[in-house]
Amino acid sequence: MPHQTGFMNSFNRFLERHLPGGLYRRALIILIAPVVLLQTIMAAIILDRHWDNVTKALGRSLSMEIGLLVDDYQKSDKSAEAVALIEQRARERLRLDMDVIRGADLPPPETPPFYALFERKMQKYLTRDTGRAFWVKSGGPNGDVEVQVEVDKGTIFRIRTEAERAQASGTGGLLLLMLAASGMLLGIAMIFLRKQVVPILELAEAAKNFGMGRDTSGFHPRGADEIRAAGNAFLDMRRRIARHVEQRTDMLAGVSHDLRTILTRFKLELAVLGDNPKVHPLKEDVDEMQHMLEDYMAFVKGDGGEQASDVNVPDAVRMTVENVERDRPDSDAEIAMKDLPRATVHLKANAFRRLLANLISNAVRYGHRVQISGEIRDHRLWLYVDDNGPGIPAHQREEAFRPFVRLDNARNLDETGTGLGLAIAQDIAHAHGGEITLEDGPLGGLRAVVRLPV
Ligand SMILES: Nc1ncnc2c1ncn2[C@@H]1O[C@H](COP(=O)(O)OP(=O)(O)O)[C@@H](O)[C@H]1O
Ligand SMILES: [Mg+2]
Repeated sequence: MPHQTGFMNSFNRFLERHLPGGLYRRALIILIAPVVLLQTIMAAIILDRHWDNVTKALGRSLSMEIGLLVDDYQKSDKSAEAVALIEQRARERLRLDMDVIRGADLPPPETPPFYALFERKMQKYLTRDTGRAFWVKSGGPNGDVEVQVEVDKGTIFRIRTEAERAQASGTGGLLLLMLAASGMLLGIAMIFLRKQVVPILELAEAAKNFGMGRDTSGFHPRGADEIRAAGNAFLDMRRRIARHVEQRTDMLAGVSHDLRTILTRFKLELAVLGDNPKVHPLKEDVDEMQHMLEDYMAFVKGDGGEQASDVNVPDAVRMTVENVERDRPDSDAEIAMKDLPRATVHLKANAFRRLLANLISNAVRYGHRVQISGEIRDHRLWLYVDDNGPGIPAHQREEAFRPFVRLDNARNLDETGTGLGLAIAQDIAHAHGGEITLEDGPLGGLRAVVRLPV
């Protein structure tokens, strides 16, 4: 996006790096994060206002009640009976636990911490309502509040009451409710989002299977409009590709049939000429032409729409090796099979054997010793075809895969190749969602590595 500023770019990069990879989790975060943020802010505001207001109101009335008691005392004759009456009124009418202490001083004043809203408010109110020296402390053993007022020199009213009488409480329930609501929201969001993501996963799975040449007829687009549109586009594409392959195969079947007919006629005419040494080169040429024709056909035909089936790996390798040996009866190369995984994999059987045949026939053409090994690792079938030939220099390996390309070492060796072997093999590997790479081999020559997902 060219119009994005540098900031947006780095913000996007930051998100890409720190958001989880999966769509499901991303959507969950996008949905949940603002809600949590909003709820937190709302909770903070509500709690703050609630606490502030209620505490002010309760504090003010407590302070006024204490002021009333002090006034009563001042207007009385300050006798023991009068004080007892005040105490009784405080306890019964105002639910304040009051003691009168004589011959004592106020405890030393304490500066309340900045967050002690209650103490600071009470100091203001008590100064106004009693007009005397006093001392306030909240947060006693049960959150009790204690106020001491010096009504006369050496006479102190000590008033104690429970916290609910003086400041706001009960905010825990509200918090719990909010948490429960958030949890419920999260649960519902998770269930809904799951449902949205499943069709995307199905589409991805179908596309992957199609890429690997597997059956995808079970796929039906569903889910949200956009996902269904993508699914239908996939179905269209699948249809188009199938039609394309079909047309190509039909045409090739025709061409191949026509050419083979002529070739067969050729062979018959040659046979009629008998075992004449003069026609030997001609016969060889016809054989070679047949081989080349088959190569060309295989290349353009691709997998010919072959359906994948269960293939036993060691059996397929063995069968291919026998075919290669039969094809070159005069070759003295020895082909060894070692550590082949005893596995059955889902592949297009004929295409897979052709892939192997191309690699093995290259190996026996360029080397004398050939070894085929393999393993199943990371959900992949790995096959290694090694030979002790000259190998291919690293910078030419990519070139070797191109159709009709033959490297110099091959041209000197014989002239019958078409340069299609590796191209066809790579095509087949790709059609299975896999790949072939070339490396230096342990036998001194080339190692072809086949990697197919299974
Ligand atoms: N095992 C090998 N050792 C050395 N060179 C090889 C080997 N396999 C292939 N090559 C080189 O790669 C080229 C392309 O191989 P390929 O596509 O099979 O065509 P072709 O075998 O018909 O020449 C060959 O011409 C050859 O030069
Ligand atoms: Mg070849």
